[in-house]
Amino acid sequence: MTMWPYPKILAHRGGGALAPENTLAALRCGLSHGFHAVEFDVMLAGDGIPVVLHDPELGRTVAGSGRVPDYAAAELTKMDAGAWFAPAFAGEPVPRYEEVFRFCLENRIWMNVEIKPAPGFEEATGRTVAALTAQWLTEPAVAAALAGGWQAPLLSSFSHEALLAARAAAPELARACLFDAIPADWLARLQAAGAQALHTSHRKLTPAQAAAVKEAGYGLFCYTVNEPARAREILAWGVDAFCTDRIDLIGADFA
Ligand code: G3P
Ligand code: MG
Repeated sequence: MTMWPYPKILAHRGGGALAPENTLAALRCGLSHGFHAVEFDVMLAGDGIPVVLHDPELGRTVAGSGRVPDYAAAELTKMDAGAWFAPAFAGEPVPRYEEVFRFCLENRIWMNVEIKPAPGFEEATGRTVAALTAQWLTEPAVAAALAGGWQAPLLSSFSHEALLAARAAAPELARACLFDAIPADWLARLQAAGAQALHTSHRKLTPAQAAAVKEAGYGLFCYTVNEPARAREILAWGVDAFCTDRIDLIGADFA
């Protein structure tokens, strides 16, 4: 079996640069551009409920202040995650992970779920995201979707601790180690996490590294590729897939 049985082009943070990141509006935008594959970020609210957010501090995309773990999910999901992007998106809420999961299920969107722990919550975030994902995948409606060809999510993280916790909680789920630059001990890290793929920034990737990862039998995914010429270059190096902010320039069928 190939270690990358997934779509090759993903909309980064739901809808790339065309909609407020990590929202249902972003997923709808991705869909309207033909994307049935997305990456998004999941963090725990203070009450342990996972929400879809990138930053552990409020203020950039979410109107508010303080840290994500300072708020319960019910408080975060009342906050505006759209106005920063454009007035037309004002009132777009922070979604719970469960809402995003179910939207993707209904619309047959494949998910790369990036486990994005707030500092100090690495183990809890990895464990919770994996356990809930595995639980939802056993529901009859979800099992039917899987039988019909929809693929189970791939969990990735920069946090090795989160990946180890995810592995312990739901070993059957697919995992990927996420790196800014590929470290010298990448193979040991992948083995320890039971990962099937390596995710890395395209900026520091070399053709030799790409060849080594593929030679070792792993899937290879890059973030965040926004120029078509660069996308073609890394695909020629053997990169299996990437996410993009420019879903308008790089279509779902680009590869
Ligand atoms: O998962 C790939 C990519 O999203 C990692 O970086 O900061 O956009 O979450 P970031
Ligand atoms: Mg991400």
